Amino acid sequence: MDIITAPSYEALSKEAAAYISRKVQDNPQIVLGLATGSTPTGLYEQLIKDHITLGTSYRHVTTFNLDEYVGLSKENPNSYYAFMEKHLFQHLDIQSEYTFIPDGMSAHQQKECNIYEEKLKKHGPIDLQILGLGANGHIGFNEPGTSFASRTHIVELTDSTRKANSRFFKDIKDVPTHAITMGIDSIMGAKEILLLVAGENKRKAFEQLLYGEISEDFPASILKKHPCVKILADQSVLGTSGIIA
Ligand code: F6R
Repeated sequence: MDIITAPSYEALSKEAAAYISRKVQDNPQIVLGLATGSTPTGLYEQLIKDHITLGTSYRHVTTFNLDEYVGLSKENPNSYYAFMEKHLFQHLDIQSEYTFIPDGMSAHQQKECNIYEEKLKKHGPIDLQILGLGANGHIGFNEPGTSFASRTHIVELTDSTRKANSRFFKDIKDVPTHAITMGIDSIMGAKEILLLVAGENKRKAFEQLLYGEISEDFPASILKKHPCVKILADQSVLGTSGIIA
């Protein structure tokens, strides 16, 4: 794993955006794996700026999102579909038929997982996967204990993840209990992975990623086995904790 530190969240977002924009320019048909949540919003802001000022085009880019809540429609502002529209897609020249997100409203959830895997097979592999890090070590919505061999599947969200994500909802009761997520093996199929880690609340998880063993109890630990992983961490993650990145 190649670890790069940035002095601030803004610097991390700019660095990640510059890296991705270069990749898109080098390969206009790139397949990107995308994440939601707080961590990549600064990156998406920078990508939009770059698109507007430098004209980087996403016309031929394909994207796959990691996950979606079960039971939230596209119109629900808390769905990851709405998140991606708001924070990225509506500002780019990307073609909506090439932006894939699991359908959390599907009446046949297992079938939806299989369909998503089929799409990954047809349009993939993912060239560059962007990941955030859960405070409990999850990647995508693969909670501790998920099999490293998992493909796209339905997960029951842990109380800690529902609590962490409740900041986006009116009430914790409104946070869905389940989600569809790409599996760990689906994520590991990406040719390259860029993991973004920002904020003091990720310090413990980051430390465990660096120094802990590879275990299904800490899903992100599998990244140590991927041949091409870059980690971008900001100063607040490192703090004065003595973590040596
Ligand atoms: C989101 C996702 C999650 C987040 C993680 C960190 O699509 O897959 O793994 O990356 O929960 O979330 P934030 O960035 O909100 O701290």
